[in-house]
Amino acid sequence: MRSPQWAIFGLGVVSGVKAMTPEQLIAAPRRGDALPDPSGKWAVFSTSEYSWAEHQTSSAWNMMDLSTRKISVLTNDSSVSEVTWMGTDESTLLYINGTNAEIPGGVELWIADVNSFEKSRYKAASLPAPFSGLKTAKTAEGDYKFLVYAESYPNGTAYNAELATAPLSTARIYDSIYVRHWDSWLTTRFNAIFSGSLKKKGDRWALCSDGHAEPLKNLIAGVKNLETPYPPFGDSSDYDLSSDGKMVAFKSKAPELPRANYTASYIYLVPHDGSQKPKAINGPESPGTPNEIKGDSSAPTFSPDGRHVAYLQMERISYESDRRILYVHEVGSNETNRAVAGDWDRSLDSVQWTSDGKTFVVKSEDKARSRLFTLPIDADDDFVPHNLTDGGSVRSYHHLPNGDYLVTSSAIWTSWSVSTVSLKSGVVSTLASANEMDAGLKGLSPRDLDEFYFDGNWTKIHAWMVFPAKFDKSKKYPLAFLIHGGPQGSWADSWSTRWNPKVWADQGYVVVAPNPTGSTGFGQALTDAIANNWGSYPYDDLVKAWEYVRDHFDFIDTDNGVAAGASYGGFMINWIQGNPLGRKFKALVTHDGTFVADAKISTEELWFMQHEFNGTFWDNHENYRRWDPSAPEHIKQFGTPTLVIHNANDFRLPEAEGLSLFNVLQERGVPSRFLSFPDENHWVTKKENSLVWHQQVLGWINKYSDVGKSNPQAISLNDTVIPVVDYNP
Ligand SMILES: *[C@@H]1O[C@H](CO)[C@@H](O)[C@H](O)[C@H]1NC(C)=O
Ligand SMILES: *[C@@H]1O[C@H](CO)[C@@H](O)[C@H](O)[C@H]1NC(C)=O
Ligand SMILES: *[C@@H]1O[C@H](CO)[C@@H](O)[C@H](O)[C@H]1NC(C)=O
Ligand SMILES: *[C@@H]1O[C@H](CO)[C@@H](O)[C@H](O)[C@H]1NC(C)=O
Ligand SMILES: *[C@@H]1O[C@H](CO)[C@@H](O)[C@H](O)[C@H]1NC(C)=O
Ligand SMILES: *[C@@H]1O[C@H](CO)[C@@H](O)[C@H](O)[C@H]1NC(C)=O
Ligand SMILES: *[C@@H]1O[C@H](CO)[C@@H](O)[C@H](O)[C@H]1NC(C)=O
Ligand SMILES: *[C@@H]1O[C@H](CO)[C@@H](O)[C@H](O)[C@H]1NC(C)=O
Ligand SMILES: *[C@@H]1O[C@H](CO)[C@@H](O)[C@H](O)[C@H]1NC(C)=O
Repeated sequence: MRSPQWAIFGLGVVSGVKAMTPEQLIAAPRRGDALPDPSGKWAVFSTSEYSWAEHQTSSAWNMMDLSTRKISVLTNDSSVSEVTWMGTDESTLLYINGTNAEIPGGVELWIADVNSFEKSRYKAASLPAPFSGLKTAKTAEGDYKFLVYAESYPNGTAYNAELATAPLSTARIYDSIYVRHWDSWLTTRFNAIFSGSLKKKGDRWALCSDGHAEPLKNLIAGVKNLETPYPPFGDSSDYDLSSDGKMVAFKSKAPELPRANYTASYIYLVPHDGSQKPKAINGPESPGTPNEIKGDSSAPTFSPDGRHVAYLQMERISYESDRRILYVHEVGSNETNRAVAGDWDRSLDSVQWTSDGKTFVVKSEDKARSRLFTLPIDADDDFVPHNLTDGGSVRSYHHLPNGDYLVTSSAIWTSWSVSTVSLKSGVVSTLASANEMDAGLKGLSPRDLDEFYFDGNWTKIHAWMVFPAKFDKSKKYPLAFLIHGGPQGSWADSWSTRWNPKVWADQGYVVVAPNPTGSTGFGQALTDAIANNWGSYPYDDLVKAWEYVRDHFDFIDTDNGVAAGASYGGFMINWIQGNPLGRKFKALVTHDGTFVADAKISTEELWFMQHEFNGTFWDNHENYRRWDPSAPEHIKQFGTPTLVIHNANDFRLPEAEGLSLFNVLQERGVPSRFLSFPDENHWVTKKENSLVWHQQVLGWINKYSDVGKSNPQAISLNDTVIPVVDYNP
């Protein structure tokens, strides 16, 4: 949240802050979302921190007293993997202990009181597999119902890798597409949700079998091909438990369609006791399915009285970046599920009901932020909601007993902040902020950034500017031009541990991060316009962004600028290299992008390419080839020094893309380097790998932009911690 006192700072104020290094960014504490207890007295959250001295991550669970704002350590036992509130009183916690005293690879459920965690904690259940994603409800009868998920075998039994016997051969054999996804090869196992119950025996809770043969019941085993949560990014927000503990709602991909080339998915309802099979509420056979709505469904959420389920859904059957619209289904009715503010030109990310069941609080990307909005439950299609929050990006929000919301958010200038937001008055008050807690973040503030709009190819385009430490408007800083992935994505006012613009800026650059055609959060037309236009409108937007920067900001040195991007941003860097804009930069960095147009057919999510290029590879080949950075006429333009990064576990765009590009650059005599991590996917997430990534990337751009002249602290390439393999000295 942007607190009011920041509003007085404007562009050009010299800040006294020291620069943030990659080491500081990577090691800085990473905090989880603040989860309030039902009485609103406490919030619990996780913290993990990396030590460069010990090369180890340490973790803890913290408590915040919401009235005094005092933060304390609940436990630093790293076996605690998830914590939730029992809701039976204000101080009882239920948590997953990620170890199991009897079953290797299993976990345990434990219960403790926050006021005396060590003394009060006891084991309530032993679970035979690595379950996670705890959701709970207390029933009127006084029982305690919960949901967890785990990978399961085709027969429905939860999978425990430590107890499984390894096959004698490592062969993988497939008879249909969808062989691998993100960074994993698909197996016959899939995610499933399991239900269980705790009952009070004396003064302690314990697992009861509820008459099942097994203590936990697989709720989706009754219907072939269901899977929830949906990997790799699905989590417990893919399912919900009604507040009386009786009904479960979950999302699954359409079981009747091949998974590799459609995004379609449905919301299902199933009783928590598993007494009936799951039934879709918006599938092709469901009476409530609105006409022509066939895309991906998400975020099923019960109303407080359990009589309705809200969910989000896209219209188109193979477009992952279509607009997510809010629908409401009445449980048990045959009425058509109703859209809420159905014409509002924003794509929703999550939805919650207020405790009186009269209003929705939704989260949506909005003009390069992630904001909260309120919607009356009966809002018509033409209703346009007001934003409840402004700056930064909301990560999570939970209602408090007084009707306020407890919000965890981040921004370009803060990794974590917790505040309360009043639905009635709109007042935001910050309870805690990482900038006050972490030495490495001290002094970062909203004055480290600014934004501007310029005339793009066909519409106004937004861009962020991020300033270096001790920024002085009267000086000149080389341009660092960053291009985001997706292409349906955005540079948002949020914290990143992978592409953090402030770390780039603090090497001595002014970062410019535009949101060109294809970006999300500025209306569906801007997002949709990139289909079949990968190298046209967005390229032209970027040319216009560069020209605007050159013509409007004296403090930016465009003669010594550099450009970098990952994924679609990597493709765009490859495209820029073979086009006139490439000659405007001193160096380029391209991370896990496509290079050879025809190679797109080797990806795993075929729906993506088939949407982007409007059909299959063979029926629409000219679309796939139209913007081919590897076309000879473009290769012959290559001339800007380029760092090529491509990781071995990237199954979205296989490693061969980076290797092909590096071969071409070397044979054409363009200064270039190839960096690859055998144990990273589309992203670099391991701490020591991330440090090398930063040293190589920043070292590369610093060498060519000569930023070291004005900033002696800038990383130089020869600081590298790994030897460079050079066969041609
Ligand atoms: C955290 O761990 C250390 C040992 O590493 C221990 O001495 C300390 O008491 C722990 N603190 C809490 C609050 O659990
Ligand atoms: C986690 O479980 C193990 C095995 O039962 C136990 O020894 C340990 O004390 C538990 N830790 C916590 C914090 O519950
Ligand atoms: C399900 O299959 C797995 C793997 O073959 C096996 O270990 C497990 O015992 C089976 N479960 C049941 C209930 O048959
Ligand atoms: C999706 O793939 C299946 C084969 O797995 C094929 O029968 C179907 O026509 C494909 N659909 C589209 C839209 O490509
Ligand atoms: C919904 O339709 C089904 C099938 O036609 C019918 O059996 C059921 O009674 C209907 N339910 C309601 C609430 O109308
Ligand atoms: C809503 O967003 C606008 C910018 O679009 C901002 O000026 C305003 O302060 C925000 N309102 C609230 C209540 O945060
Ligand atoms: C928009 O981009 C296209 C493709 O690069 C180009 O042909 C056209 O001239 C551009 N239009 C404007 C108004 O810049
Ligand atoms: C996409 O393909 C369909 C037919 O397959 C065609 O009608 C439509 O015009 C195409 N759209 C674009 C943008 O190429
Ligand atoms: C490291 O690079 C800088 C500038 O590129 C150069 O001046 C210095 O000599 C190099 N140091 C070593 C040890 O190679």
